[in-house]
Amino acid sequence: MKYTFPNNFWWGAATSGPQSEGRFNKVNKNIFDYWFDNEPEKFHNGIGPNVASNFYHSYKEDIAMMKSIGLNSFRTSIQWTRLIKDFETCEVYEDGVNFYNSVINECIKNDIIPVINLNHFDLPIELYEKYNGWESKHVTDLFAKFAKKAFELFSDRVKYWATFNEPIVVLEGQYLYKHHYPQIVDGKKAVQAAYNLNLASAKAIREFRNMGCNKEGGKISIILNLTPSYPRSNSNEDLRAASIRDMFFNRIFLDPAVYGKFPEELVELLKNDGVIWESTEEEDRIINENTVDFLGVNYYQPSRAKAREEAFDESNGWMPDKYFEFYDMPGKKINTHRGWEIYPKAIYDISKNIKENYNNIPWYISENGMGVEGEEGFKNSEGIIEDNYRIEFIMDHLVWLHKGIEEGSNCFGYHLWTPIDCWSWNNSYKNRYGFISLNLDDQSKIIKKSGYWFKIVSDNNGF
Ligand code: BG6
Repeated sequence: MKYTFPNNFWWGAATSGPQSEGRFNKVNKNIFDYWFDNEPEKFHNGIGPNVASNFYHSYKEDIAMMKSIGLNSFRTSIQWTRLIKDFETCEVYEDGVNFYNSVINECIKNDIIPVINLNHFDLPIELYEKYNGWESKHVTDLFAKFAKKAFELFSDRVKYWATFNEPIVVLEGQYLYKHHYPQIVDGKKAVQAAYNLNLASAKAIREFRNMGCNKEGGKISIILNLTPSYPRSNSNEDLRAASIRDMFFNRIFLDPAVYGKFPEELVELLKNDGVIWESTEEEDRIINENTVDFLGVNYYQPSRAKAREEAFDESNGWMPDKYFEFYDMPGKKINTHRGWEIYPKAIYDISKNIKENYNNIPWYISENGMGVEGEEGFKNSEGIIEDNYRIEFIMDHLVWLHKGIEEGSNCFGYHLWTPIDCWSWNNSYKNRYGFISLNLDDQSKIIKKSGYWFKIVSDNNGF
């Protein structure tokens, strides 16, 4: 069977500023820079974001390598802390402006479409310390100012934008499950931050439209990790558990992004539980009027839910987990390095969901991938990592994506996480995801077997 994808399909890969650039010439700190400086032991092998994959210095060679493996599009993010010197006035760092200009120009020179995201978990620490970060409405205004500045500087060449990457992870990491600094456990604050992140995204989109970026061919999106919620069984209790999980972890961003409003049932539930966010009619209107042009969908693993079997532990106050428990499905396929389930069919389910329930809005897979530890062990005699497991992983997902597209879903691309092995938030360099390997000792980079394979897929627009 041959799988051919739509014309002009994006064959690409994604990274983020904080995970690839290194902190060179960056004065302001984001929450991860700050966290690493204060508690390096929280990061795998004590490795922080200081050097990352050295993209700040090697972007030219890196982009040339990306070109050589057939990437026609590439996403990264602009670091708020690299571009902006003063968050209130939006005074810029010239070095930051020059760096992002060079990256964008280099992509274009290589016929690679730059896709630029504005926030990838990297809240400036100053805005956390002064205003409690995403709990604050003022920070949503500062984010919109930063977005406007980025559009002013780069939208003549960048046509595809994203406001946020995986905003739900900000809630999970900062406010629920302690993966990110400041490791708070507070469901009510998480709910407020959810509203404010939606508001910040809508305010940035409003700037984009006010500046007429759309009229010049620009399009703006949000990148959501949609993790379909599968119930353990068809019992009413399990179905309800999965549906609430879906509302809290997917629809809380997906519905406002596409329809400009939150799921009514979710709002009711939060009101009944006394944890609803604070908002004004004016803010609701901003969210309502400023929806996205397209969606980026990150997909790694599904979520499986069951009705609670154990009483909910109220000691930390309200948490969404009050309504469901994680269901550990027997026999599931798993990536043991990362502990994530591998379930490619979910990509098809996502494509149907977007087609049927979200106006068949244009979308692309903005991240998918497999993090593996100890890849050095797969090197052949020529020093190339033979990552057949990654090729198989990508193919399995592309087959289901193809089926979704055949059935009418409006998907226009597939990006792997990530082009070159990059730094990860807590796991540092434990698991490698790239088409291109990174030697941490000397920063040398070598294309893996999957990179050579992807070039053929991209050249043939399928496989
Ligand atoms: C996505 C993020 O959730 O998954 C990336 O957008 C992240 O920033 C990637 O690196 C892989 O997850 P991890 O935790 O293994 O790095």
